[in-house]
Amino acid sequence: MHKFISGIMKKMSLREKLGQLSLPSGGSMKTGAVKSVELGELIRKGEIGGFFNVKGVENIKALQKVAVEESRLGIPLLAGADIIHGYETIFPIPLAMSCSWNPEAVRLMARISAEESSANGIGWTYSPMVDICQDARWGRVAEGSGEDPYLGSVLAEAYVEGYQGGDLKDCSSIMSCLKHFALYGAGESGRDYMPVDMSHQRMRNEYLEPYKAAVKAGVGSVMSSFNTINGVPATACSWLLTDLLRDEWGFDGFVVTDYNAIDEMSNHGYAPMKEAAAQALKAGTDMDMVSEGYLNTLEESLREGSVTDKQIDDACRRILEAKYRLGLFDNPYKYCNQERSVKETFTPEKRKVARDIAAETFVLLKNSDSLLPLRKKGKIALIGPMADAVNNMCGMWSMTCRPERHRSLLAAFRDATKGKAEILHSKGSNIYYDATMEKYAAGIRPLQRGDNDTLLREALYVASQSDVIVAALGECADMTGESASRTNLDIPDAQKDLLRELVKTGKPVILVLFTGRPLTLCWEDENVPAILNVWYAGSEAGDAIADVIFGNKSPCGKLTTSFPRSVGQLPLHYNHMNTGRPDNDNSHFHRYASNWIDESNEPLYPFGFGLSYTHFTYDDVKLSSGILKKGGKIEVSVKVTNSGNSDGTEVVQLYLRDIFASLIRPVKELKGFRRVTLKKGESEDIVFEITEDDLKFYNCDESYVYEPGVFELMVGPNSRDVKGVRFTAE
Ligand code: NOJ
Repeated sequence: MHKFISGIMKKMSLREKLGQLSLPSGGSMKTGAVKSVELGELIRKGEIGGFFNVKGVENIKALQKVAVEESRLGIPLLAGADIIHGYETIFPIPLAMSCSWNPEAVRLMARISAEESSANGIGWTYSPMVDICQDARWGRVAEGSGEDPYLGSVLAEAYVEGYQGGDLKDCSSIMSCLKHFALYGAGESGRDYMPVDMSHQRMRNEYLEPYKAAVKAGVGSVMSSFNTINGVPATACSWLLTDLLRDEWGFDGFVVTDYNAIDEMSNHGYAPMKEAAAQALKAGTDMDMVSEGYLNTLEESLREGSVTDKQIDDACRRILEAKYRLGLFDNPYKYCNQERSVKETFTPEKRKVARDIAAETFVLLKNSDSLLPLRKKGKIALIGPMADAVNNMCGMWSMTCRPERHRSLLAAFRDATKGKAEILHSKGSNIYYDATMEKYAAGIRPLQRGDNDTLLREALYVASQSDVIVAALGECADMTGESASRTNLDIPDAQKDLLRELVKTGKPVILVLFTGRPLTLCWEDENVPAILNVWYAGSEAGDAIADVIFGNKSPCGKLTTSFPRSVGQLPLHYNHMNTGRPDNDNSHFHRYASNWIDESNEPLYPFGFGLSYTHFTYDDVKLSSGILKKGGKIEVSVKVTNSGNSDGTEVVQLYLRDIFASLIRPVKELKGFRRVTLKKGESEDIVFEITEDDLKFYNCDESYVYEPGVFELMVGPNSRDVKGVRFTAE
């Protein structure tokens, strides 16, 4: 590879090298200031290394053809896209995927995404996003795997392996791009694009592990994040992009900026364009997404001596290496096969997998008197703006899908109950009463609005005709994702009022909740008998929800993000540090303890929480020894029994607490989990192993250490309801 690339680089002019470092957007999708959109001319001049946002195998092939046949050196282009949870067969949003606690499901979803996108011209996806988020106000919590670094790392690896497959040269493998490096989820106040100020030890202990895991899994590229880190934009941070990423972690792929990030450094008050581009290059950023700062200023910076030939060559080489690794020099059209596109996209087999996986991501938050699953009989009223909203089922980053081919919840319910029950339907409410608020919320997927009063009246009439009510409510798809932060996390006003009125009818009400983030649901938890959180479950959402509502499948998802009781609790995460004045009794306010006058410290639904149609009981936790010898291991075991009335799947969780350490440690940290499927009445001994490695953390010197002492192990069905046992590490 080295020789081949050196051969090409010898022939390249400076302008052509800078061209390789430039990544314009090709499509109509714009999420910031855009520069050139006329790709053909840039390609002919060799002034572009790749493009993104172009859909359609023939369109992509046409652009590749210009590069190969009409540019001087015929260097193939990288065709990128945000294939985040599927191409046309859409899977649940990443936050939902994480609630399956099933790395195999994530791997399979990424594999199928790779198969479909590679059949449609795309060889590079901007996924996974592994940003840890502890603040539900941030809209992009939907795009990650929640708040836990251990689970986040396991899933990060699964994403990368799924996309990249065993061999990147394979025509169904695509290059993964890890994002957003780094700490994007820790922005101040949950607002998007905000600064991050954080100690290095906190970064390492709480935020960096998932990125590191993806690098270890061989991710081919990394996207720098929009945020500043301790005052320096991530895109210009050489500690991050060179010292940590390359020198310490051994990353040998290329780094691309996020959208227009070089240009945005001037708004940050860091540097005007020319200086920003030079700083980014020196820090280790290889490719410039959209800003054209590299293309238009680096020649001058080179003349002035603020960047070197070597820095430009290194960046150019890394991008050419990525193309080489993908096999694009051997076959620039490897992803452009119309026949594959037709045969391999949105097939019944892939859709079946998506439907099965979707059902694993739903989290049953409440189920009084076993109201769910519903029997297929009588009259069922399906009410709410999400009941028949086929263009809102997939959530953000699903631009490549074709909603006209998906089934709404209403259609799926009617199909599932055909000949047995009657499904009555009414929209019930707008998303918000206010049309402007709704316009902001609905983004690129507007819903048909109706008159607020008429909608409610109709809904109450339909409800009065029914035996049971299913309320399909929540956030519409574009209320989460990029640039979708909220300060109020209630179900939007019009829908919450509708829900209140439905509950007042006295009929049993099931809330099917659509959301891309934790919502504040205290009223709902007190007043609605059953709540099934279905997130945005993708192209097969309708059928997958029907599968669970009518009991073909039992819910088994567990939250990977804490659901707060109120916004004032944010940021909120289960793995927090203790205070010197902890409040161990959350039943009421204690002055001079660490608590709030007006709110408990506890989340409404804790990390790891999720019910099932059956019930699991946990015996006491047993240890193979109370002492962990140096270099040794302890076995932790617990007997779990399916003591309910149906078969089901449980996620058994293991947490650890370091009682005293040179640096304060979290009250608990996830250290392992097992998904186990048990038939009614069946038991299984679940065994975990603990070694020194599990006790390690980054200390004040950023050394990864293990300190002897007393530790507590806790096992349970979620992070709150655990049984603990102590041991001593020598
Ligand atoms: C901006 C987003 O932050 C990033 O996640 C995405 O991959 C790029 N735009 C490209 O669309």
